[in-house]
Amino acid sequence: MLVLGIETSCDETGVALYDTEAGLVADSVYSQVDLHAKYGGVVPELASRDHVRKIIPLLGELFDKAGRTPRDLDGVAYTAGPGLIGALRVGAAVGRAIAWGLDVPAIGVHHMEAHLLAPLIAPADDQRPAVPFAALLVSGGHSQLVGVEAMGRYTLLGESLDDAAGEAFDKVGKLLGLGYPGGPAVAAAATGGDPARFSFPRPMTDRPGLDMSFSGLKTAVANTVRDLAPLGDQDVADVARAFEDAVVDTLAIKCRRAARQTRCRDFVIAGGVAANKRLRRRLTDSLAGLDEPVRAIFAAPALCTDNGAMVAHAGALRLAAGERAGLAIETRARWRMTALAPLETADR
Ligand code: KG4
Ligand code: ZN
Repeated sequence: MLVLGIETSCDETGVALYDTEAGLVADSVYSQVDLHAKYGGVVPELASRDHVRKIIPLLGELFDKAGRTPRDLDGVAYTAGPGLIGALRVGAAVGRAIAWGLDVPAIGVHHMEAHLLAPLIAPADDQRPAVPFAALLVSGGHSQLVGVEAMGRYTLLGESLDDAAGEAFDKVGKLLGLGYPGGPAVAAAATGGDPARFSFPRPMTDRPGLDMSFSGLKTAVANTVRDLAPLGDQDVADVARAFEDAVVDTLAIKCRRAARQTRCRDFVIAGGVAANKRLRRRLTDSLAGLDEPVRAIFAAPALCTDNGAMVAHAGALRLAAGERAGLAIETRARWRMTALAPLETADR
């Protein structure tokens, strides 16, 4: 089954073709980063308009690259939520219309489920997580610990009570004058930083539970930046390093707790922040070091940040299970993963 995936929930226009037999066929992503950079964050209306401008040319480029035509499609998957509602409407309307025009089934995909399942896109055989497993989802909009009891059946173990981890990276990037998005820029600056010069709090690690909070950490960074101003390059690097260490440490503590609580053997880490190299190394080591060793599983870094491949893949699984969207174009700014139908029994 050849499935077209469309992702437009935020500031990346992503399209991809995924074949349930052959795997990922082709993938194209257009990032709106330059458009939003001067505002220091995503401007929703500009995002919607740019998706409108880019999506049709990007689809043309995708089919050319793959040497396929829309007639080859057996289904269409689009991100239906959660995300920026105007941005979601663009991808959903285009996806639903293509499916209707070709008379093939369509499916609205949950963005965070697409992130969560991304490590299953062409993994080596020994890298497939076995259910039940636990997952850390860390993106610009969400920080959640999730129990995966069966494919499609999720329980929320804990979540950020305020900022998402990626959002904290973005805000700290802004405080340090590193531009938008902050994640990759803060990580790059941190490589030259002294880990011993500053120490920031590890929020909510001194009490039991799996909820998280990152806004106090951002405030601690803001206070340090204010005291240091004006910052030289080494100051920026040192603050970036201490901040990255605090986030990575906090997430590692929470993941170890979640692993012990769920007694899982595999732990998936997904979402944009999962592209962070220090986080990947640290979680791999700290989960492997538990009394009952747990394996950390990540998607390839390019599939951690928003892309169409993860949407095509998650949509293909749900379409193959018999799930179908109706003709109405349905999108949701907010949508709990726990409300999804289990994948095995999905036949709407
Ligand atoms: O999953 P994603 O592409 O979009 C959302 O669903 O939000 O995640 C984007 C977030 C941004 O906050 C970005 O700063 C962060 O992921 N990010 C990173 C890295 N690459 C992206 N954070 C830390 N280190 C990175 N290397
Ligand atoms: Zn995302």
